[in-house]
Amino acid sequence: MTTSPSGNRHDAGLQAYRASVLHFKQDPAFHAQSYDWHEDGLLIVSNGRIEAAGDYAQLHASLPAGTEVIDYRGKLIVPGFIDTHIHYPQTDMIASPAPGLLPWLETYTFPTERQFSDPEHAGEVARFFLDELLRSGTTTAMVYCTVHPESVDAFFTESEARNLRMVAGKVLMDRNCPEFLRDTAEGGVRDSEALIKKWHKRGRQLYAITPRFAPTSTEAQMQLAGELARAYPDTFLQTHVAENTDEVAWAKELFPWARSYLDVYDHYGMLRPRSMYGHCIWLDDGDRARMAETQSAVAMCPTSNLFLGSGLFDFEKADAQNVLLSLATDVGGGTSFSMLRTMNAAYKMARLGGTYLPALRMFYLATLGGARSMQQEGTIGNFVRDAEADFIVLDPQATPLLARRSKHTDSLDELLFALALLGDDRTVAATYAAGKLVHQRPA
Ligand code: GUN
Ligand code: ZN
Repeated sequence: MTTSPSGNRHDAGLQAYRASVLHFKQDPAFHAQSYDWHEDGLLIVSNGRIEAAGDYAQLHASLPAGTEVIDYRGKLIVPGFIDTHIHYPQTDMIASPAPGLLPWLETYTFPTERQFSDPEHAGEVARFFLDELLRSGTTTAMVYCTVHPESVDAFFTESEARNLRMVAGKVLMDRNCPEFLRDTAEGGVRDSEALIKKWHKRGRQLYAITPRFAPTSTEAQMQLAGELARAYPDTFLQTHVAENTDEVAWAKELFPWARSYLDVYDHYGMLRPRSMYGHCIWLDDGDRARMAETQSAVAMCPTSNLFLGSGLFDFEKADAQNVLLSLATDVGGGTSFSMLRTMNAAYKMARLGGTYLPALRMFYLATLGGARSMQQEGTIGNFVRDAEADFIVLDPQATPLLARRSKHTDSLDELLFALALLGDDRTVAATYAAGKLVHQRPA
């Protein structure tokens, strides 16, 4: 690789893509100048990393003679979507009916997760799951495996083979669940530590310590999981909190000394940067203050919350207290792998809560918002120089209706809004991970 006088690195791995290019530098809820938009844009990728994003007219002259420019004119290139909360073992039970979270867990979730002691089954589901994510334009996810270490090996093996930037972890669960899914306080944490040593930062794989939720861990397991999180501060931590009122009441019964459900996690040292809390519907102001102080992040899961009838996430209160926000599907509680469909649900959830979610904010939450919530800005989530080249190509002509609606949009906000409200996996024409094409929509 050589560096030209202009500072561009010339190498055999150089690729360029011509399309409209959009990415975020800031959260549009708090900054007037939050994004870069290049209607006739060029994205230049060098050896799997971003070299430049800008106007075609300005950038194309900097390309060495003979560089292939892939022509996606008429389409939009945006950073790959980031889904900060999803359960791969629940793929086969998506859209299973139940009157609320706790019966849904008992009836469908636990029996389905039981099968993941079988590495072959786990591998087959992991392959389908990753295909589905890439078809939907999701290039990074924070993934729950099951209580079985084999389920984690199966997942990371598939993710590593595709060179995806994924976060995953073994579920910790040593009470209030069927015997066949139960680990022990010591055994669960020992297995987690072995998986950290095996997978954390191996290629693009990252480990998340994963207590399922406080009601299924004993105090001894919570204590040991908190110690593990302190021993490995650059691992992630993921769990559920304040999703459903029955669950909140249950947590209160099990941890009567805690000020709130979130306070249980706080007590065990689990509020920290790189911790991701699913749902966060029934938090109070004190909880939100602790989330913000500790840089713990919210994974809001609108399709799941509407499906299970869990409640409405309060955007206004979260923003008033500067809590890190991200968007997630929560499949199989969530009803779609598509982050576009998830935006659709988030928009409606905001409206029902009396607030308004602009399209720019939805796209921010699904890209840079996710990266910031994971402390991964600069690595994924936008097109700054040297970021990993995970990006997707969105097609405003994907369906007859979307094509018709897009023709009548007068602004970027309207176009993004149409994509968010009418889009799904069909809207994703191509997905690239680390500069490599990993999904192309069939013609
Ligand atoms: N709380 C504890 N486990 C789960 C789960 O698998 N899905 C959801 N939505 N909530 C949970
Ligand atoms: Zn979940």
